[in-house]
Amino acid sequence: MKYTVLTLFPEITDAFFANSIMAKAVDKGIITYQVINIRDYAQDKHHTCDDAPYGGGPGMLMLSEPLGRALEAAGAKKGVSHPFKPRVIYLTPSGRPFNQALAKELAGEDELILLCGRYEGIDQRIIDRYVDDEISIGDYVLSSGEAAALVIIDATYRLVDQVITSESLDEESFSGGLLEYPQFTRPEVYDTMRVPEVLLSGHHANIRRWRLEKRVEKTLALRPDLIRRGEEAGLFDEETVSIIEELRKNERNKGD
Ligand code: ADE
Repeated sequence: MKYTVLTLFPEITDAFFANSIMAKAVDKGIITYQVINIRDYAQDKHHTCDDAPYGGGPGMLMLSEPLGRALEAAGAKKGVSHPFKPRVIYLTPSGRPFNQALAKELAGEDELILLCGRYEGIDQRIIDRYVDDEISIGDYVLSSGEAAALVIIDATYRLVDQVITSESLDEESFSGGLLEYPQFTRPEVYDTMRVPEVLLSGHHANIRRWRLEKRVEKTLALRPDLIRRGEEAGLFDEETVSIIEELRKNERNKGD
């Protein structure tokens, strides 16, 4: 996977690629990256990258010309049908919501170009010509796209083949439509709080069952929307469905 980040603040994203697991993946050649400073593609004396919007309104917009040149330098292609086209993503609060399913989809690409906005956004013509996906990392407004680009890079690179073991991915949050089970390490008793007995039992089948029950319990309590969506998509196996039913029954009985 190759990531190219287009930004006015390259030092923000540079640091991320030096972090431990990412650095290992880069060393092994599984991940490659390039950070492009959009300002290097502004051709006037002051390297201007922004101007006021036509039609008035608050704030400044990023200029199309430096952005267009930076995108071309990154290998972005005009239009949609090109056999070796990197997928171009523009980070914006008005994009489609980012989630684990989209992370998996993007992790399957050969190359992502992440375009980080500043100010009030970018000229629409750049979006129309080059951008494949407008993506938001949540319903809040950040001061710029760099933090959002890092979220997308972090969530996707770890899903790229060989970056981390598949066992670590199997039971983490969102896999199979459930949140992760609670985890414990030494000591057995921390300030009077004991590790659940089952985890000390060495009984693998019981431990597996306990963890599944905890995943369902936690997801029902914190993210009932995930359970509903999983049910609609037929995502859950028989055992999980019966645990959901059991917990719902207990909940109803409590209310009676
Ligand atoms: N830029 C500013 N806010 C953002 C958000 N919520 N998601 C993605 N990019 C952004």
